[in-house]
Amino acid sequence: MNSRIVSSRRRFEQYKSEFRGGNDAPESPVPDPKRRKRLRSARQLVVRFWDLLRGQRLLVIFALTTLTVATPLALVPPAATKLIVDYVLVGQPLPDTFPAWLNLPDDPWRLLLLISAGVFVISIVKTAIQICGRWYATRAAKRTQLSVRKRVFEHAVRLPLHRVQELKSGGVASILREDAGSVAELVFGMLYNPWRAVIQLLGSLCVLAWVDWRLLLGTVILLPFIFVTHRTWIERIRPQYRSIRKRREEVDAHATEAFGGMRVVRGFSRQRSETGRFMRGNHLMGRQELYVWWWARIIEMIWDTLIPLSSAGLLLYGGWQVVQGQLSLGDLTMFLFYLLMLLEPLAVLAQSATQFQNSLSALDRVLDVLDEPREMVAAENAITLEKPNVSGRVTFENLSFQYPGTSEFALRNVSLTVEPGQTIALVGPSGAGKTTLCNLVARFYDPTEGRVLLDGIDLKEIEVENYRSLLGIVEQDVFLFDGTIAENVSYAGRHADEAEIRQAARAANADEFIQHLPNGYNTFIGERGVKLSGGQRQRIAIARAVLADPRILILDEATSNLDSESERLIQTSLQRLMQDRTSFVIAHRLSTISHADLILVMEQGGIVESGTHDELMEADGRYREMVQLQVSMQSSLAEPTDAMT
Ligand SMILES: Nc1ncnc2c1ncn2[C@@H]1O[C@H](COP(=O)(O)OP(=O)(O)OP(=O)(O)O)[C@@H](O)[C@H]1O
Ligand SMILES: [Mg+2]
Repeated sequence: MNSRIVSSRRRFEQYKSEFRGGNDAPESPVPDPKRRKRLRSARQLVVRFWDLLRGQRLLVIFALTTLTVATPLALVPPAATKLIVDYVLVGQPLPDTFPAWLNLPDDPWRLLLLISAGVFVISIVKTAIQICGRWYATRAAKRTQLSVRKRVFEHAVRLPLHRVQELKSGGVASILREDAGSVAELVFGMLYNPWRAVIQLLGSLCVLAWVDWRLLLGTVILLPFIFVTHRTWIERIRPQYRSIRKRREEVDAHATEAFGGMRVVRGFSRQRSETGRFMRGNHLMGRQELYVWWWARIIEMIWDTLIPLSSAGLLLYGGWQVVQGQLSLGDLTMFLFYLLMLLEPLAVLAQSATQFQNSLSALDRVLDVLDEPREMVAAENAITLEKPNVSGRVTFENLSFQYPGTSEFALRNVSLTVEPGQTIALVGPSGAGKTTLCNLVARFYDPTEGRVLLDGIDLKEIEVENYRSLLGIVEQDVFLFDGTIAENVSYAGRHADEAEIRQAARAANADEFIQHLPNGYNTFIGERGVKLSGGQRQRIAIARAVLADPRILILDEATSNLDSESERLIQTSLQRLMQDRTSFVIAHRLSTISHADLILVMEQGGIVESGTHDELMEADGRYREMVQLQVSMQSSLAEPTDAMT
C-alpha cells in the first residue's frame, strides 16, 4: 500500500508543471481523461450569475440605484474644499459664475460656516443612503446564498446515483457549504463594488475633466492597465482557485468518510494513517494556496507601485501649473482630492479582484453541478399513477444491465412477468445480481437493454418520484437517519400519527423493544442508528417500509440480522403484509422464502431456475442443492460432533 502513496510535494510539482503547460489548472493531480478542459468565460459566468439572482434582482437594482445617488454626493466635499481654500483662506472674491440665487455671504467666516454645515448635511445624507443600499445588497446576497444552496441541494439529490456516489457525501457537503456559500459574495464582488467604482470613477473623471483635461489624461492612462492585468493575469488565477476548491472537496470527503467508518479505523488501529491521508490532501491544498498567494500579490504589487507613481507625477504637474499661475491653489487641492477618489476605487477593484476570481471559481463549480443532467428526467407526457389504481404487475422484458462505468453485465436477458400480489423470492450466490434486479425494480437505474413494465407501462414513461412513492424498500445495508425512532419509522409518511407508527412497528416486531427503550418512540438513535443493534435497525427499516403502504415491496435480506424467533414472528406479519402487494424478497436463509409464489435462482446475472419450492425441489437442480446444503449444515450444528463434546 505504501508504494501507492504519492507525497504532496510530488503531487504539487506535477500540478505546477501541468498548470504552466496549459491555460487550465489541473483539478486532480492524477490526470483524468474525462476532465472538462475548458473553463467558462467570465462573460458566461456573469450571465449565469444574473440568472441565479432571479428573485433578488429588484433588491440588487435598488441597492445599485442608492449607490448611483449616494456616490455622486461624495463628490461634493472636495468641491467645497476648493471653495474654502480659494474664497475663505486665500480670500479671493467670489466669481460671477456663481448663481445669484445661492446668495452666498461675502463674509469669509459666514461662508466657511455655511459650507461646513452644507458638507456635514450632505455627508450624513450620503451615509444614510449608502447604509440603506448596503443593507439591501446584503439581504440580496444572503437570500441568493440560500437560494443557490437550495438549488444545488435540490439538484444534487436528483443526480444519477452513480454520480452522487462519485461526488461522495463529504464532497457534496463541501460544495454546498463552501462553493454555494461563496457564490453570494458575487453580489458585492461582481455588482455592488464594481458599480460603486464605476460611478465614482465616472464622477471624478467628469470633475477632473472640468478642472483640467490634461491632468485627466494622466489618470486615464491607468485604465488600460486594468484591462491588461485582467486579461493576462487575473484569468490565470481563477483556475487555480477552482483547483483549490476541488482539493477542499476531496479533503472534506475524506474526513467525512474517515469519521463515518470510525469503528473500522479504530478496529484496525489506523488512526495515524488516516491522519496522514487527511494531511496529505491538506498539505497539497496548503501548497496550492501559497502558490496562488504569489499570483495574487503580484497584481497588488503592480497596483501599489502604479498608484503612488501616478499621483506623484500628477502632483508634480499640478504644482508646476500652480506656480505658472494656470491653476489656483484651491483647484489643485480639489484636484488631489478627486485624484484620490478616482484611484481609490481602482485600487479597491484591483485588490478585490483576486477574491472576486475566487468567488467566480465557486460559481463555476456550482454551475458544473447544476449543469449535470438529473436522473431520469420526466418526459412531457410522463404518466403519474394513483396508488389505489395500481394493481402491481411487474414485467421484465429481455432485461440486461451494466452498472455505469463497468464493462461486465450484472444482469443478462432476464424476462419474467410477476402477477399482482405475488411474492417473488430471489436466491443465489453472492454477486449473482439479486440486489441489482431489485435496483431496477426500484428504478435506481434504468436498464441498459430491455424494459421493466408496471401494469404494462414502461417505467421510463412514469414520473420517477411518483413511481417511487409506490415502493417500500428494506435495503441490504440498512440506513437510518439521526433522529427519533418515530421520525425514522414515519419517514415515508410524515403525517402518520402515533397509532399508525405503532402499528407499523408491531408488524415489524419492533414495538416490544422500542417500548423498553428509556424514551420509547422518542429515543434518539444517533447517526445511521448507531445506538441500536443490527437486528433492531432492520426492524425499524421494515416498519418504515410497512408504513409507506407500498404497492411493491422489496425486502433485500431484510431479516438477515435477526434471531430465528424474531424472524419467525416477523415472517408471519410480513406474509400478511405481502398478501395484496407485489413483493420481491431476497434471502440467503432459504427456509424463509419457501412459501413464495415463485422462486428465482440467479447466477451470474441470469435466472437459472424458477418455480415454486415444491417444483424446484422436485426438479432436483441448483435450488435443491442449496436447500440440502443448508439443511445438512443445520443438522450438523444440531448434532454436535465428537470433537466438540
Ligand atoms: N454500484 C455498483 N457499481 C458497479 N458494480 C456493481 C455495483 N453494485 C453491484 N455491482 C456488481 O454487480 C454484481 C451483482 O451485484 P449484486 O449486488 O446484485 O449481487 P447480489 O446478488 O445482491 O449479492 P449479495 O447476495 O452478496 O448481496 C456484482 O458483481 C457487483 O460487483
Ligand atoms: Mg445483494
